[in-house]
Amino acid sequence: MDSKKVHIKSFGCQMNKLDTALVSTSLEQAGFSITENVKDADVVLINTCSVREHAEQRVISHIGHLKHIKESKPDMIVGIIGCMAQRLGDKLLEHKTVNIVCGPAQIPQIAALITQAQEQKKNELAVTEHIRKAVEENENQALEDFESAYSNEDERNPAQAFVRIMRGCNNFCTYCIVPYVRGPEVSRPPETILEQIRKLADNGVKQVTLLGQTVNSYQYKKDSKVWSLADLLLAVNDINGIEWIKFVTNYPAEEYFEDIMHAMADSPKVCKYLHMPAQSGSDRILKAMNRKYTAAGYLELLDKARSIVPGIAIAGDFIVGFPDETEEDFQDTVKLVQKAQYRNAFIFKYSPRPGTTSEKRLEDTIPDEVKQRRNVELLSVQEKISEELSKEYSGKEVKILVEGLSKKPHLNSSEGGNNPQLIGRTETDYIVVFNGPVSLAGKYAWVKITKSSPLTLFGELI
Ligand code: 5AD
Ligand code: SF4
Repeated sequence: MDSKKVHIKSFGCQMNKLDTALVSTSLEQAGFSITENVKDADVVLINTCSVREHAEQRVISHIGHLKHIKESKPDMIVGIIGCMAQRLGDKLLEHKTVNIVCGPAQIPQIAALITQAQEQKKNELAVTEHIRKAVEENENQALEDFESAYSNEDERNPAQAFVRIMRGCNNFCTYCIVPYVRGPEVSRPPETILEQIRKLADNGVKQVTLLGQTVNSYQYKKDSKVWSLADLLLAVNDINGIEWIKFVTNYPAEEYFEDIMHAMADSPKVCKYLHMPAQSGSDRILKAMNRKYTAAGYLELLDKARSIVPGIAIAGDFIVGFPDETEEDFQDTVKLVQKAQYRNAFIFKYSPRPGTTSEKRLEDTIPDEVKQRRNVELLSVQEKISEELSKEYSGKEVKILVEGLSKKPHLNSSEGGNNPQLIGRTETDYIVVFNGPVSLAGKYAWVKITKSSPLTLFGELI
């Protein structure tokens, strides 16, 4: 019998991309095959995101699209996995198209859930009942086993892999759904993480990105030693074959910060890139968000980072239009962005998430037009800064990890001779577009930068 074909569509963050990769690997091991074409699929899985309402709306409209496909293929199984599955649970099964609902902690069961749904022709629901209860040892072990079996199946970029070092979050920023869908913070044992990275390196991986909601609060007690992210970075630095180490995302906190920055300065493999969301530049709003720092304290951390790691590239996230954000609060955010000199900032409009503290206690007072205007204004402030910073690369030679063919054409054909356009990334996370042979994919290369835009550099292969 032919193996059953599974199509997986993924929404959301890098954590979700990693879950999608883990699910693909485990399904292939269980005898399924993965297809890029939804029309060929016997099973369609949607890996979902709940962080903003818009992300959820896209999933719902995708379910509508699958409904049409299913009309001509009634046996097709549709599974919703990830954050939205945990948040909405059996409500998702009210959509007649949906057969399986599987939360982030239950993904190790996905192959079994698909088989049961196919054989018994009934719906399957697997989510955590009390999401904030301490994670049960057997569930934790199942996730560990599932995670450690991962050996990088990302054909599009075989030289790079994500490795989760912690799950969940305990910060409870008032706007955020993550603690309610990903559960309490749990750091993974360092020996398992290191063993996994050694295996990835043996399989040809050269860059690892360590993932966690607040990766800098990583803490694992083993014998008499407490491992921090700094210890982990130093240990990964010693693994043969790994050339670049990145880590995301950081919470602005004093604890371990200097140690982590020193680990970056002292370990040649740790990329000089720090993603550390500020969310707002107004102390009043930061307090209402339950972020545990002030704008001045945040900027001090950036100064510290820059003094320990000269040349460090810093990126941030912001939410505009949080409840009761006045024009003055917003201008404080603009000022913070001007002072922070980010290489890049991600800006989002506040979206109330059901069950979070801000949604329950604060009215969503800022009209969408105002959120939109603040979003555009902040983006344009940041764009000027990004443009200035990227200009500094002009004429410089940079090392990049080549990812592969560029999806859209960026360069004129006269600029590139006969070679196709490739994209790669610098250690500071700039995309670099250049012409070169496809055989460079997955390898490091040096490029001389000839042109820049705010977020992308263009150059010639050296
Ligand atoms: N509304 C808008 N943006 C949000 N983020 C998290 N929750 C919300 C929300 N309810 C943003 C934060 C975070 C990024 C991943 O998403 O800026 O850093
Ligand atoms: Fe959400 Fe705050 Fe945790 Fe980040 S630190 S995942 S914003 S609760």
